[in-house]
Order: sequence, then C-alpha cells, then structure tokens
Amino acid sequence: MAISRKIEVLREKIKLAEEGGGKERIERQHKAGKLTARERINLLLDPGTFEEMDKLVVHHCYDFGMEKRRIYGDGVVTGYGRIDGRLVFVFAQDFTVFGGSLSGANAAKICKIMDLAMKVGAPIIGLNDSGGARIQEGVASLGGYADIFLRNVLASGVIPQISAILGPCAGGAVYSPALTDFIIMTRETSHMFITGPEVIEAVTHEKVTMEELGGADTHNSISGVAHFAANSEEEALGIIRELLSFIPSNNLEDPPQKETSDPWDRTSDELNDFVPEDPDQPYDIRRIIKEVLDDHYFFEVQPDFARNIVIGFGRLDGKAVGIVANQPEHLAGALDIDASVKGARFVRFCDAFNIPLITFEDVPGFLPGVAQEHGGIIRHGAKLLYAFAEATVPKITVITRKAYGGAYCVMASKHIRADINYAYPTAEIAVMGPEGAVKIIYQREIAASANPDEFRRLKIAEFREKFANPYIACEKGYIDEVIEPRFTRPKLIAALRMLENKKDKNPPKKHGNIPL
Ligand code: HXC
Repeated sequence: MAISRKIEVLREKIKLAEEGGGKERIERQHKAGKLTARERINLLLDPGTFEEMDKLVVHHCYDFGMEKRRIYGDGVVTGYGRIDGRLVFVFAQDFTVFGGSLSGANAAKICKIMDLAMKVGAPIIGLNDSGGARIQEGVASLGGYADIFLRNVLASGVIPQISAILGPCAGGAVYSPALTDFIIMTRETSHMFITGPEVIEAVTHEKVTMEELGGADTHNSISGVAHFAANSEEEALGIIRELLSFIPSNNLEDPPQKETSDPWDRTSDELNDFVPEDPDQPYDIRRIIKEVLDDHYFFEVQPDFARNIVIGFGRLDGKAVGIVANQPEHLAGALDIDASVKGARFVRFCDAFNIPLITFEDVPGFLPGVAQEHGGIIRHGAKLLYAFAEATVPKITVITRKAYGGAYCVMASKHIRADINYAYPTAEIAVMGPEGAVKIIYQREIAASANPDEFRRLKIAEFREKFANPYIACEKGYIDEVIEPRFTRPKLIAALRMLENKKDKNPPKKHGNIPL
C-alpha cells in the first residue's frame, strides 16, 4: 500500500472515531439538551490542548451480535490537556456509543489515564453520561468498574479527582463519582441513584420522579452527594475550571497563586459593628468571609446543603485558603449531623492538598433532638473533631460570637492544634449559654427564691458578665489575641505569612480510624 493511501486509511479511521455513534445519535443527544463527549472536552480545556488517547480502541465482546457492532473509541473519549495552562487528564463518556455504557475495553481506557495522572501528579476529571454497565459484557464490565473504583481510592488525597454528572449515572456506577473529591451536576439532564423510580415503586410503593429522586437539586440540598448544581453544561464545566484554580495538581504541590491588587492590610471598618449585640440575633457569616477575602471573592462549596455550616475557597494574599464557618443565619449555626459531615470532608480535602484552613466560629453547640441522637450525632460530630484535629495545614480560627460546649473544642480550637486563635470582643466562650447554665447551677435557688424570675435574670446577667466574653480563654492562652473585627484581614494574612513554612505531622500509622 502506498504511503499516501496508508495516511488516508488513518484519516478515515480517525474520522469514524470522531463521529462516535453517528449523526442521528448526536442529534438525539443535542435534542435531549446535552453536548457530545468531544464538545464537552473542548469547552472544558484550554483551546487546542486536548491530546486524545486510545481513539481506536474497540470492545472485545462476541455475544448478542456485538461482534458486528464495533465503534472506535467504544463509548468513552480519554486523554489529557490543559486548564489555565495546567495539565489535567479527562475522560468523557460518549452516550452516542452504546449509551456510553462501560465495557471492559472502555474501563481499561479510563484506568490508563488514571494511572498516568497518578504517575505525573495531575488532576483527573470525569465527565459522566452513561447507561451503566455494558449489559452485553456482563462481569467484564463489572470488573471494569471495580478497576476504576480501586484507582479512585488509591488516587484519593494524592491527585484531585473531579466528577461532572451530565446524564444518567445509576446503580453501582455512582460509586466512582462518589469516591472523587467533588461532584458537579446539571439540572434536569443529570441523575444519580442506586435504584431508579420504577424499582423503588415496585419494592416500596413510593412514587417519585427521576428529578426528585436523583436530580441536581436533590443531591445538592438533601442528600449532600453533590457539591455544585449547574443550569447548563457550559456552567458545569466552568465550575470545574474555577475549582481547579484553588487546588494544587497533587498533594506534594502548593495551590496556584493569583496576583491581587487587594492590599494585604486593608481594614474593614464596617466589621466593627457587624456582629449583633443581641446574642440571639442572626447574621450572615458570608458577609464577614467576603469582606476579608481577596477582592471580596468567595467560591462557596455545597451552598444549599447543611446551610448551618458554610464551606468554600477564597484567597488571602493571593494564596488559596479553605473556609469553614458556622452560619448563625441557619439553625443558629448549631452543628448537626449533615453540617458535621459536610465540614469534616472539606477539612480533610484541604488538609490533603495543602490548603490552609480559616475557621469562623459562632456556634451555640451541637443541635439537640431525638432525631439527631438516634441518627448518630455522636459518631458524625466526631468526624468534624477528628478532621480538624488530624489536619496539619496552617489552621487559623476567628471566634466571632458563640463558642459553646463541645463545639468550642471541635471548631479548630487551640487544644486540637490550631496555630492562631483570634476572638472578637463579642466572643462568648463557655460551657453553655447563660440561660442554660443558670437553669442548671441555680436550680434549687431559683425554686426557693421569693422572686424566681428576678433571681434568674440577675444570675443570667452575672454569668454573662463573667463568662460571656473572650477574656478568660485569653488569660489561659487559648486565644492568642482579641482583635477588633476591622483588622480581621490583615491579622489573618500576617498569621498565614508566619505559617508559610509550617511543618507538622501525625504519628506514623497505616491509617487512622475516623468514626465513619
Ligand atoms: C448497553 C446500553 C446500556 C447498557 C443504554 N444502552 N444502556 N447498551 N448497556 N447498560 C444503549 C441502548 O441500547 C441504546 O442503544 C443507547 O444506549 C441509548 O439508550 P436509550 O435507552 O435509547 O436512551 P434513553 O432513552 O436516553 O435512556 C437512557 C437510559 C436507558 C435511562 C440509560 O438506556 C437505560 O435504562 N439503560 C439501562 C440502564 C441499566 O440498567 N444499566 C445497568 C445498570 S447496573 P442504541 O443502539 O439503540 O442507540 C450498573 C451496575 C454497575 O450499571 C455496577 C458497578 C459495580
């Protein structure tokens, strides 16, 4: 065969591969409001940077007439490229080819780039849109899933793993995204569930729509499975690009820096009277967070789940930080099961990837209730405590108002290795709030008093005067400095600069046993 013909053959094969499942199925994909795998990759990566691998892979199935249906690529597009100039690996399931279902060959393609990503220390991004296990292949497909799960686990904490769900993701297939660090879902077009509405109706007689069961809003506000909801695929892919701007490429690197013209010593006078004098009056902690971060920019993670705790990324002095904050505007900022798990997972992510933690604390305690106790608040609350205690990245805490009870210990207190602990003059650090404390310690006196209400009022005032302030903790060195709120930004940056070369480690062990 002449060389020119050989080149033609190659070009034909490439063309066939790029056509995926063909024009008709591509049209169907577009009609369903979805982009194709290649269109998604082009939107995700810096233009012209995608290098595809395994474009000509086909499946090895000879059953059910599959030997006559071989399509180059076999339902997944894999390779590497750049985001903001930084190397990333990506796989995009191609729904136009066998519904993007996972075959043995298709799984091997995904595993190949996961292995490469681990060797070179670069993030792996999965764009999921698949009918699940390739039914015709049986156990070869199940084995393929398990091969991916193993790699997800081994890569956890070594390279960032991000999943976008842009179509169906059902059955055991959900566990690969679930093992990754962040899940982004598109509204209306993406769904995640272990068993679908029909099976659920048959088994439990519950009627539920796909969207209610496993749509983006469900997983972003009720289950906490997902971290971001997007109104379009473009938005979802933009979220991935932005997320990576805060995260290093692997656990041995520092996060990328972003120049800022925001002065490090900028003060915020309005913060001085922002925290309400009335300890029961709510306020939005995000206003303080935005006020102190570079350019007032806060990239919130899981904004609609467990709203009593706020987590997300920002920058101080151009450097990425992870924010964990109680939110007095929701459940008075009390820690419940969902908030504890949400916070703990984020703390562990930041610690794994060298992102300093800034904690804003205004917490009346753990949320009381039978449902919380029976749901295991003891076990789940311990996760947050464990996560903060084991974290060795720079840890800075600002107590804005309440720091009561066990929650005082948990929220990056000095005792569990926070490096710098600030408090506002409005801070109240005590075993519990004055009302609760007086009720317990003056029970008998109140009952015996001629004027119980007046007695209680006096005692509450006395307790508040004595304990509802930061100064006793300050005298003991548990608080390093009581600061005027307007200096929060310069104080945080000064501490971060001081901690730049912090080295701390945990005792050698195979791994800890976080209370799961
Ligand atoms: C092989 C599949 C497939 C699968 C879809 N297709 N799912 N082929 N294996 N799992 C094919 C269809 O035959 C069809 O081929 C094309 O993909 C598009 O499918 P449609 O049904 O036409 O699309 P749509 O109406 O959009 O419905 C999408 C769907 C549905 C909801 C995903 O296809 C579906 O229910 N698929 C089966 C899902 C499933 O039960 N998977 C196994 C789950 S268990 P043609 O040639 O007509 O285009 C699982 C376990 C994983 O995944 C375990 C891991 C441990």
